[in-house]
Amino acid sequence: MSAALDRRALLRLAGGLTATAALGSTLPATATATVDERAGGRRRGLRDLAARRGLAVGTAVDMAALVDDARYRDVVVREFDSVTAENVMKWEAVEPERGRLDFAAADALVRFARRHRQVVRGHTLVWHNQLPSWLTDGGFGDAELRSILRRHVHQEAGHFRGRLTAWDVVNEPFEEDGSMRDTIWLRALGPEYVEDALRWASHADPRARLYVNDYNVEGLGPKSDAMYALVTRLRRRGVPVHGVGIQGHLSIAYDFPAGVVENVRRFTDLGLEVALTEVDVRMPLPVTEEKLAVQADYFDRLLRACLAERRAVSYTVWGFTDRYSWVPGTFPGEGAATPFDADYRRKPAYLALRDALTDHPRSALPS
Ligand code: XIL
Repeated sequence: MSAALDRRALLRLAGGLTATAALGSTLPATATATVDERAGGRRRGLRDLAARRGLAVGTAVDMAALVDDARYRDVVVREFDSVTAENVMKWEAVEPERGRLDFAAADALVRFARRHRQVVRGHTLVWHNQLPSWLTDGGFGDAELRSILRRHVHQEAGHFRGRLTAWDVVNEPFEEDGSMRDTIWLRALGPEYVEDALRWASHADPRARLYVNDYNVEGLGPKSDAMYALVTRLRRRGVPVHGVGIQGHLSIAYDFPAGVVENVRRFTDLGLEVALTEVDVRMPLPVTEEKLAVQADYFDRLLRACLAERRAVSYTVWGFTDRYSWVPGTFPGEGAATPFDADYRRKPAYLALRDALTDHPRSALPS
């Protein structure tokens, strides 16, 4: 992935140039009009509204789009105060060959974020997907896999030490029934791999907030029960875990998950943070007004569940424009899952987010 990105473009992006000046020759004429940063007069975006609520509002960032598309950059800067690398911090991206580390694209994102006063959420250290083939095809024994994983967590979390607010240390550890997902890590290390990874990450970056992250844990159910049992046990054992990441990949083909507010509250009642880490709401195509209205309602209800709990600290969308969303490529026949359409027009979902941030009192805030 990162190999496909032009290194000079990454450097320009991360350097001292303004977002719209980087790669200026390829900019569409409208690009400079959408962001007004003069004299602090940045046009209001979700980030300004959310900051007053004590909530970070983020997006996953597609690095190729960030490098190539000035309109994309402008929206990232205007709307969000938190960013997550959609792909460039994954293991296959940072260590494509064994021992050859490549943090160029991820570093460019971190520098871009700092320049635009955004925090960065790290995604992800331990997962079963997007692993490098040298690892999956290597025929390693259990003990060697453990030491490979430990080294990876130390190297990557250590590389970004002090620069990220949070890490999705373990991603998607559960099956739908709440059992531990059958992965290369479970098979080699046993269920203790979660605890091991959190301890290694804490050692490498003591200040980062350490999360366990999964999907289909929005509402009450067997999978969120398993997450609850896991983090309860980890806390009791003194394992460094600070937050639960609720991905938030929803579809309007299903009912809105039941018990989201209660579910968020049971985690925050443990003293943990909750972050909505990857919100998108896909729909069967074609798009209709009715579907957009249901989608807006789903985005809104997830956000309001966050706003209801002071320790629900962050709400991140998994891409903000249908132009680059992962959904059509992964769910055939579905799409239009983000708050902006493919031409960067605000959809009802965007307006719902804006209104929720404007209206909703932060109920758990001390008066
Ligand atoms: C997805 C990216 O969006 C795609 O570009 C990539 O091809 C596959 O991964 N859960 C996660 C994310 O934790 O890392 C996934 O991101 C989406 C599902």
